[in-house]
Amino acid sequence: MNIIEEEINKPTVFKNESKLSADFIPNELPHRKKELQRMAQVFKILLQSPGSASRNVIMTGPVGSGKTAVVKRFTNMLKESSLKRLINLKTVHVNCRKNRTPFMILKTIVRYFDPAIPKRGFSTEELLNILSEYLEDTGTFLLLTLDEFEYLIDENHNLLYGLIRLMDDKLNPVQRLYLILITKDISFREVLDESTLSTLQQNFIRLAKYNSEQLRDILNQRVLLAFYDGVVLEDSISLIADIAAESGDARYALELLWNAGKIADASNVLQIVPEFVRDAKSKTIPVIRIDLIEELSLHQKLLLLAITRILKHDEKAFVTTSELESHYQLICEEFDVEPLKHTKNWQNIKVLKEFGIITSRVSGPGYRGKTTLIGLPDAPAEELGGEIERQILRRIEEHARKIRT
Ligand SMILES: Nc1ncnc2c1ncn2[C@@H]1O[C@H](COP(=O)(O)OP(=O)(O)OP(=O)(O)O)[C@@H](O)[C@H]1O
Ligand SMILES: [Mg+2]
Repeated sequence: MNIIEEEINKPTVFKNESKLSADFIPNELPHRKKELQRMAQVFKILLQSPGSASRNVIMTGPVGSGKTAVVKRFTNMLKESSLKRLINLKTVHVNCRKNRTPFMILKTIVRYFDPAIPKRGFSTEELLNILSEYLEDTGTFLLLTLDEFEYLIDENHNLLYGLIRLMDDKLNPVQRLYLILITKDISFREVLDESTLSTLQQNFIRLAKYNSEQLRDILNQRVLLAFYDGVVLEDSISLIADIAAESGDARYALELLWNAGKIADASNVLQIVPEFVRDAKSKTIPVIRIDLIEELSLHQKLLLLAITRILKHDEKAFVTTSELESHYQLICEEFDVEPLKHTKNWQNIKVLKEFGIITSRVSGPGYRGKTTLIGLPDAPAEELGGEIERQILRRIEEHARKIRT
């Protein structure tokens, strides 16, 4: 008996699992047509009269409301139309959570044009100039998307000012840069100067969170693509839509659907019944995204692990900073890692808060003196703790392997 063969030949509810993956974007996006039309209105000038005027869009909306999907779908269509008209348009999508600084972002953009560009040795200013010269010399138009812009670390807004300078029609007779900013947090606008703001604020598109009916349409579309006919019960779809409607998050809805399918397969049942959805709900961590945790530094993870352990063990809603620090010391010992000093820990706590992974507030009555209380907004401490532990162990193992070889 060959277990691998058996596994491969096992009956499954999935016809094509990849249609549920995070990077699959369907051709039609239910309930986002108006927004796509709005973008077409803004950017059509790029096809009708390339270079005559610059355009930009700020897109905002809550988690899983389709910001990235809408923009990627749109840029693909624009690219298609530009090819048909022999317009030299490049579309570049940069994620600011993965490229946190102006330097990294510009390097990523310039790499699209010249993969051979050296890793080091350029200032942001120089990279901006290289980009501008490249566009000029080759007659290229660039539609640049900066996604998850809220993660950019750029106190003086050098990147934004630099890019806007490239979009200044007094400086550039031919407009080569078109910009889309995607962000959950629009407060960055508060600190920009008047003229930058007036350039940037031309078009503001806000996506609302999805309601239950809308989520049902999104789910139904994927059910047709990803599952065999009739395996997903109507009631199960409604249940998923209702659960996810609380946050209005389409990603969460699709994850629940996928997990429910996995549970059906594991139970050798060729139907996704509501019970599997409920089971999936208890196994899916909402709000906190695993990929976000993966990108944390080792000590940020150790701190987070300490928080989850205290919360789980004491069944409390909050952790004080002194509790946290002493527990963090213990965990460092457990994993044989040198603990960081207080100020560093404090910075790391700030990062975790900025990412929305933890909440913190100053204590009120019932606590002696003022102390900071740290909590987890939504994720169950136990699941989160388990996930972090796995990641830390993996990382320590990798490190040990590197040392050995
Ligand atoms: N209208 C829609 N039709 C079909 N699928 C959708 C729709 N809106 C979102 N999705 C899917 O839901 C998931 C989440 O969407 P997306 O990544 O665009 O959200 P987002 O607003 O960018 O979230 P975040 O703020 O976390 O980056 C993706 O898999 C996307 O393909
Ligand atoms: Mg996104």
